[in-house]
Amino acid sequence: MPVDVLLGLQWGDEGKGKIVDVLTPEYAVVARFQGGPNAGHTLEFEGIKHVLHTIPSGIFRDAVINIVGNGVVIDPITLKKETDALHKMNVPVYERLFISRKAHLILPTHRLLDAASETQKGTEKIGSTLRGIGPTYMDKTGRNGLRVGDTEAKDFRERYQRLRDKHLNMLSEVNQEKLAEEETAFFNAVDEMRKIRFVDSEHQLHELIVAGKKILAEGAQGSLLDIDFGSYPFVTSSNTITAGACTGLGIAPGQIGKVFGIFKAYCTRVGSGPFPTELLDETGEQLRKDGHEFGATTGRPRRCGWLDLPALKYAIMLNGVTDLIMTKPDVLSGQSVIRVSTHYEIGGKRYDYMPFDVANVVIKPIWKDFPGWKRDITSIKSEDEFPAEMKSYIQWIESELDVPVSIVSTGPDRSQTIRRGVEQHAR
Ligand code: GDP
Ligand code: IMO
Ligand code: MG
Repeated sequence: MPVDVLLGLQWGDEGKGKIVDVLTPEYAVVARFQGGPNAGHTLEFEGIKHVLHTIPSGIFRDAVINIVGNGVVIDPITLKKETDALHKMNVPVYERLFISRKAHLILPTHRLLDAASETQKGTEKIGSTLRGIGPTYMDKTGRNGLRVGDTEAKDFRERYQRLRDKHLNMLSEVNQEKLAEEETAFFNAVDEMRKIRFVDSEHQLHELIVAGKKILAEGAQGSLLDIDFGSYPFVTSSNTITAGACTGLGIAPGQIGKVFGIFKAYCTRVGSGPFPTELLDETGEQLRKDGHEFGATTGRPRRCGWLDLPALKYAIMLNGVTDLIMTKPDVLSGQSVIRVSTHYEIGGKRYDYMPFDVANVVIKPIWKDFPGWKRDITSIKSEDEFPAEMKSYIQWIESELDVPVSIVSTGPDRSQTIRRGVEQHAR
């Protein structure tokens, strides 16, 4: 099959950027299919650490086509910051990057609406990244949005003006001076964006598939933040699951081969919403410290907890995961006991999934404990060197989930990646 998909199985930040970068040499194309600059994908190699928000994580590799698909929402201002930073690093971005004409644009007023919506919600707030994601997807489905291809139209400014005026009517207070500055930056960034090749990416991808090229679709956020299947309303505004790669790139379901599902050896979540295995104690603090669990986009501390098997099983079911990738087991090296939730108990009843209404129930996780390995694993080069306790932990997870763990990541660097019996693809 020409298209493989790589996506997060938890609440985001599973290490997608790192693993996409590692796998890219096996693909001709890397394509983002949903989300926008709410994403923060971190790559580390040769002593460099880099965070991408809109641009696919294949951008650092030679001769790889990177596509921002129609399902993505683009903020030209953030995109310009990203391209500027990459140019400083001598990455030939414009040679490697294409963006879909059908991708929707995030306007400065979308960000204002996002902030106003969160303020209105008060204590019920989602904990959005405030990047304008929700309002932009609302305008997309409400059939009001502006798309990348619209910037080529003669009347783009007038169309922009109509939409921003509509937004301003919805807002009670606006700092006009600040908005004017943002709008100047927006139009400068749109001019800059036009140096990138705009494509009808569904056709481009189809032609690449016909030419026998391999494509890796890069997910953003995580399955539990999916608009339909996540812990609604504490979710993002796009379909983060495998099906989103079809609508977000214009790829037929039958073209999809492997689905790489990434999960951390524990769990994190940024923003509000249910988190059954959350640790509000010193252990959670320790995981945050050892795992440097602070948001790559907003810098907010991530909530930390133990691995949640019911949630993982659910994500695997929704995505049709063929290969699991475990990241950050090295962070567990500081723990003498490692816990996993195998079930939830709610009102005396056992559940192996999250019920519809989680707001008004107390979810008590049922735990299974594993002995920790208490050993640094960050320099390990092969599976044979895994501590026995870590081997058992991984094998138990595989048997519970019935999907092989093909890759184990033992640190943030590209080189800290161990393949477990995965065949290499031809590019
Ligand atoms: P993404 O949004 O899924 O791409 O993940 P983020 O980049 O937001 O967060 C993952 C963080 O963990 C980044 O800082 C990565 O550099 C780091 N990371 C990735 N894999 C590993 C790993 O195996 N071990 C450790 N310690 N850090 C990792
Ligand atoms: P990556 O791709 C973690 C969370 C926000 C908030 C909710 C809605 O780096 O894994 P939004 O900005 O979409 O309105 O926020 O979703 N969120 C993420 N959490 N990683 C992300 O992306 C996220 N993108 C959004 O914290 O709770
Ligand atoms: Mg992230």
